[in-house]
Amino acid sequence: MTEKFIPLTDYRSLNSVPEIPSVLEAPNGLLRDTLARPLHDLRISVTDHCNFRCVYCMPKEVFDKDYAFLPHSALLSFEEITRLAKIFIEHGVEKIRLTGGEPLLRKNIERLVGMLSSLRTPAGRELDLTLTTNGSLLAKKARLLKDAGLKRVTVSLDALDDAVFKRMNDVDFPVTDVLAGIDAAHQVGLGPIKINMVVKRGMNEQEILPMARHFKDSPYILRFIEYMDVGASNGWKMDEVIPSAEIMRRIDAELPLQQLAPNSVGETAGRWRYQDGGGEIGLISSVTQAFCHDCNRARLSTEGKIYTCLFAGSGHDFRELLRGNCSDSEISNAVAQIWRARGDRYSELRSANTSDLPPATRKVEMSYIGG
Ligand code: GTP
Ligand code: 5AD
Ligand code: SF4
Ligand code: SF4
Repeated sequence: MTEKFIPLTDYRSLNSVPEIPSVLEAPNGLLRDTLARPLHDLRISVTDHCNFRCVYCMPKEVFDKDYAFLPHSALLSFEEITRLAKIFIEHGVEKIRLTGGEPLLRKNIERLVGMLSSLRTPAGRELDLTLTTNGSLLAKKARLLKDAGLKRVTVSLDALDDAVFKRMNDVDFPVTDVLAGIDAAHQVGLGPIKINMVVKRGMNEQEILPMARHFKDSPYILRFIEYMDVGASNGWKMDEVIPSAEIMRRIDAELPLQQLAPNSVGETAGRWRYQDGGGEIGLISSVTQAFCHDCNRARLSTEGKIYTCLFAGSGHDFRELLRGNCSDSEISNAVAQIWRARGDRYSELRSANTSDLPPATRKVEMSYIGG
């Protein structure tokens, strides 16, 4: 019998409408939170729907035909998303990632990509505009996305073996179609392409080496992700996590590795290269080596709530402000106030095993605020 994990509270209703400070200031790019972290990265979820039911993200028992996905009227429009993105860019955001659910399911997503790609940072630079996808629609959409100004994509792929892959996505989706999507993205120049593999003990750990071998000497950067306790529906247990150090040892034993320096502050992945020059891999150790100390990411949910942490129990409802009579300056100051008050460091607290964590039933689902 499968256990059914039912969230006790619908986390999506736990929000507050942001306050607008009485004195308005112009953004100066110097915004810092309580731990001196800047705001650099905005992850925008454009839909809470997905055509996969990955066991670690949208388990079928919870995300079934009775699940209350958001009604269309609740979603931010592309104009509303772009307006908010502009405000975030003035506060220092240089990288925008579109996520979901599955972002390519959002109708006319290339139109949003076009609108975002025309934005510039205060210094006049283009954004690092990217998208995380399960790859199922990539073969069809790669050219449109590239032409609209998307810079690169990251594709989730948890196994090469078709049976294992189908067990992970739980909708019988064949791995060859995802591989074709990755190739199509490469052909049109949506690179460097990263491949994200969530590793769950007892589920796809036997795929670690086949995946490493397959993507070695390829143009793609494979990244292994520790299975996390996101949301309230995946029934996470620590013993299902394979620590990155163990993944690294397993690969290194056959394909010797060497550590690389980080590319930038706040990077999620530790970088390694094959000693024989066969390319790079990444290890994302969100559980065993939390990287909260320089986390510079804000998340915008499909219906316009800002979350200052992947594990935040509630969001700040900017849709209320966007659809009210607020000026850009008022919204901008509300963003600044929230970021200045931010002290989130969930993963570090989890590792320290404190009792200071948000109650497990109140964490938002990753399919709602995006990976
Ligand atoms: P690039 O390296 O610039 O492509 O982006 P990224 O590292 O931010 O990558 P991506 O969005 O692909 O994130 C990879 C995975 O890392 C996510 O799917 C999550 O599992 C995990 N992750 C990303 N951001 C966070 C974060 O802020 N906190 C935690 N705990 N995990 C995160
Ligand atoms: N643990 C780690 N990463 C997760 N993702 C979704 N759920 C989890 C989880 N429980 C991430 C994966 C996937 C992206 C869409 O979200 O990286 O590729
Ligand atoms: Fe969909 Fe990605 Fe979640 Fe899988 S991990 S269910 S592909 S959003
Ligand atoms: Fe950032 Fe929260 Fe993830 Fe820590 S747990 S890295 S603060 S999103």
